[in-house]
Amino acid sequence: MTTVRPHAAAAPGSKAEAEVSRAAEGAPEASPQEQKRRPVTLRTICKDYVLAGEKFACLTCYDATTAKWLERAGVPMLLVGDTAAEMILGYASTIHAPLDFLITLNAAVKRGAPCTFVMADMPFMSYQAEEAEGIRNAGRFMTEGMADAVKLEVDRSFTPLVEKMAKAGVPVVAHIGCRPQQAKLRGGYRSVGRTAEEAAGMVADAVAMEKAGAVMLLIEAAPNEVSARIVEKTNIPVIGCGAGPACHGQIVVLHDMLGLTDWQPAFARPLVAMGSEMVEAARQWIDKVRRSDLGEHPYRMKEGDAGKF
Ligand code: KIV
Repeated sequence: MTTVRPHAAAAPGSKAEAEVSRAAEGAPEASPQEQKRRPVTLRTICKDYVLAGEKFACLTCYDATTAKWLERAGVPMLLVGDTAAEMILGYASTIHAPLDFLITLNAAVKRGAPCTFVMADMPFMSYQAEEAEGIRNAGRFMTEGMADAVKLEVDRSFTPLVEKMAKAGVPVVAHIGCRPQQAKLRGGYRSVGRTAEEAAGMVADAVAMEKAGAVMLLIEAAPNEVSARIVEKTNIPVIGCGAGPACHGQIVVLHDMLGLTDWQPAFARPLVAMGSEMVEAARQWIDKVRRSDLGEHPYRMKEGDAGKF
């Protein structure tokens, strides 16, 4: 894929350069509808965001309707995360996300947001046990799940698997740093890269993953200095999830952003209170039903049939 390096000036052929020439010609900026129709791809992420020095937003998403609204809002990238195990299925950990369920959700999100770059999260034990099984499962995400890329929680020991996936034509997003699928082994979730040794290990993981053929990196829960070093040492887009502003893109769990969760990490504070709005709407509905305040009934029997009935 195209190698990228962020810089301040508008890159030739980039979205930023197009906006500059439109402005010079006195043309209006591209409308959200105009931008929406252009499919987001790995190439456009590199060109329109990373090379243009523009940060990109990414959110988790688990269904077609929500995906449609997020695409309308202009979010260029969605992740069908294994957090679906928590947000959709009500488990306490991501390790419970079933493979077939995630493939189904991924396809639903892509149908809802056909122009958005949709990443599939490979669940616990879908790629760790056997390389061949991992590659086939990644293929299922791309064919049945219509994924644009698959995300794996990895370190440099996964180099052979990522190399084989890349060789098979699978765009891999390497998720490094805090890896929630390892929480049981490590005694819970914790930030990574706070000691010099850990930070150096993360940089080595990132460099090894790029060399193996990963097309993007996702760093979870790490200090900004470590992310900045990874951005400097690699040439692929870097998404941060609580990994500081140095990353090219930022992701949070949608339900945290919408105020639907009871607790959120410090980097994912809610921007709206949709949980409270849902409670308010449900209470109004309860009240309407109790009062039989249902409006005019839309269905009537055919003329004459009511008498025969
Ligand atoms: O599964 C998920 O939602 C994730 C993000 C939190 C990065 O991996």
